[in-house]
Amino acid sequence: MCGIVGYIGNEQAAPILLDGLSKLEYRGYDSAGIAVYNGAEIAVAKSRGRLHVLSELTQEGKSLPGTSGIGHTRWATHGSPSDQNAHPHVNKEESIVVVHNGIIENYLKLKKKLEKKGYEFQSETDTEVIAHLLDDYYKGNPLEAITKIMHRMEGSYALGILFKDHPGELYAVRKDSPLIVGRTDGGNIIASDVPAVLKYTRDVVFIENEEIVKMTKEELSFFTVDEEPIEKTTTRIEWDVDAAEKGGYEHFMLKEMYEQPKAITDTVAPRIKEEQIVIEELGMSDEEIKSIQKIMIVACGSAYHAGVTSKYIFEGLARIPVEVDVASEFRYRDPILGDGTLVLIISQSGETADSLAALREAKRKGSKVLGIVNVVGSSIAREADNVMYTWAGPEIAVATTKAYSSQLAALYLLAMKFAGVRGKITPELQREMLSDLRKLPKQVEVLLKQQEKVQKFANRYLAAKDIFFIGRGIDYAISMEGSLKLKEISYIHSEAYAAGELKHGTISLIEEGTLVAAVLTQEDLYKKMISNMVEVRTRGAFVLAITNEGNTEVERAADYVLYIPKTNKYFTNSLAIIPLQLFGYYVSVGRGCDVDKPRNLAKSVTVE
Ligand code: F6R
Repeated sequence: MCGIVGYIGNEQAAPILLDGLSKLEYRGYDSAGIAVYNGAEIAVAKSRGRLHVLSELTQEGKSLPGTSGIGHTRWATHGSPSDQNAHPHVNKEESIVVVHNGIIENYLKLKKKLEKKGYEFQSETDTEVIAHLLDDYYKGNPLEAITKIMHRMEGSYALGILFKDHPGELYAVRKDSPLIVGRTDGGNIIASDVPAVLKYTRDVVFIENEEIVKMTKEELSFFTVDEEPIEKTTTRIEWDVDAAEKGGYEHFMLKEMYEQPKAITDTVAPRIKEEQIVIEELGMSDEEIKSIQKIMIVACGSAYHAGVTSKYIFEGLARIPVEVDVASEFRYRDPILGDGTLVLIISQSGETADSLAALREAKRKGSKVLGIVNVVGSSIAREADNVMYTWAGPEIAVATTKAYSSQLAALYLLAMKFAGVRGKITPELQREMLSDLRKLPKQVEVLLKQQEKVQKFANRYLAAKDIFFIGRGIDYAISMEGSLKLKEISYIHSEAYAAGELKHGTISLIEEGTLVAAVLTQEDLYKKMISNMVEVRTRGAFVLAITNEGNTEVERAADYVLYIPKTNKYFTNSLAIIPLQLFGYYVSVGRGCDVDKPRNLAKSVTVE
């Protein structure tokens, strides 16, 4: 998974490419490269390491003059992070230059055939195959060569391509990897997604699968794989450029945690009209809602955790059976779906490859698919039958916080809507719940004020070896997310356990002083949880409890307690997760980790 950019116009290309790549670094950051065409030569500069290495290497782009070019920031898939494997990749004569996001699945087969024809490879990447394959088909017409290789390549790709004997032209094409085109003043720009072009334009064109773009500085033309010209519409992007910047916070993650009250409000408020839940984009009549026999929730990582939380709510409140699956498992297990099953695909980026594949599988099997997506116009948003957007705004930190919180909020609304339509909750209960839902943003704000307290506590665990999170029911789902937040950004080993399951093996890992974070927000499970806390405490664990205000009973079984304000039992995740996010964040800061860009990870996982 990687990010690509390309520019052609009146300005110097290299600074624009570097700037665009800086907005795409969240897609991968183990190496970066650019190629710039000055009308005589296509100069390539690339390097292993973060973008600043490339910036220094090219003197902020000044060493590569020229007004058209392409760029790439990489997250290694085929071949380790190295100068050689960094993009762009070129053919032997360096007359065809390519950047690529995606994976060419049949690259080994193609490589063998090309090698037989005498092509020599300089890297271990699948992308280099594209440069040589283009070379093989190129007879002077770029469009023809591109359509020919599209018939040969299997897998996913968004490509930016320069042909030396076509100065003044830049080509791009996509299949299953995102690509947008922006019209700038005096030029045109391509990128993997919108933040990379916002500084230059708000007018973008979303490229669909198997569409080809030909750009000159004046014109944009679009073609099908059969070289037929097509018309595309331009979309005006309304979000603020500042929304993608850090705004005074030390890290994007901290900024985004503080944006959670707004993310929840923006997701909930427009969907409550005169005390009724109105989800217009659902595209389902009351009759259709009543006829749902099963909900299948599919997602990855934190989005999956939001899905697990909502299982308890859909089942508890709306009495609809729910299955939740991680997307990479779902798609290969021949799931039993069909007419009566509503499939929910939850995704912040809307580009997660496994979630997208799951969506296609669900549609193929005849289920209606509702996407719960944050990035407008993303692949999942476009391919789902209907999409309910989570209005969290752009999320830059790799570890999700505000998008997760807005996913929960959207799922609460959906579960309440279904419960109401199916006659499972009374109008009074719905009003009460809506009132609690509206209070959540303020309550999150209050919890965020515990920042210093949580930081002090976190500083005691900077050298921890293992940290465990336990809970029951919804609290187990919260524990999973708390554990993921901690481990992904601090690199401390951590696991989440259903509290009752711990004694079936994992409890043997508890040593003197091991931190166990126990989440108990479900009143009917307090007693059971307290027994589980005592079990680990008597084996030497230090127990941190996260519980509802007023549950002072817990103090006899815990060493340290963080209280959350009272809310409806189904909404507690939105509050309990706040101290856990802060805890993970401060452990990571205290250990000197790269909070926003943890090693080995990328924001948008567009490979399987
Ligand atoms: C963890 C995190 C990931 C994502 C997962 C799915 O903090 O952000 O686990 O939740 O990669 O990504 P989306 O939601 O973009 O499909």
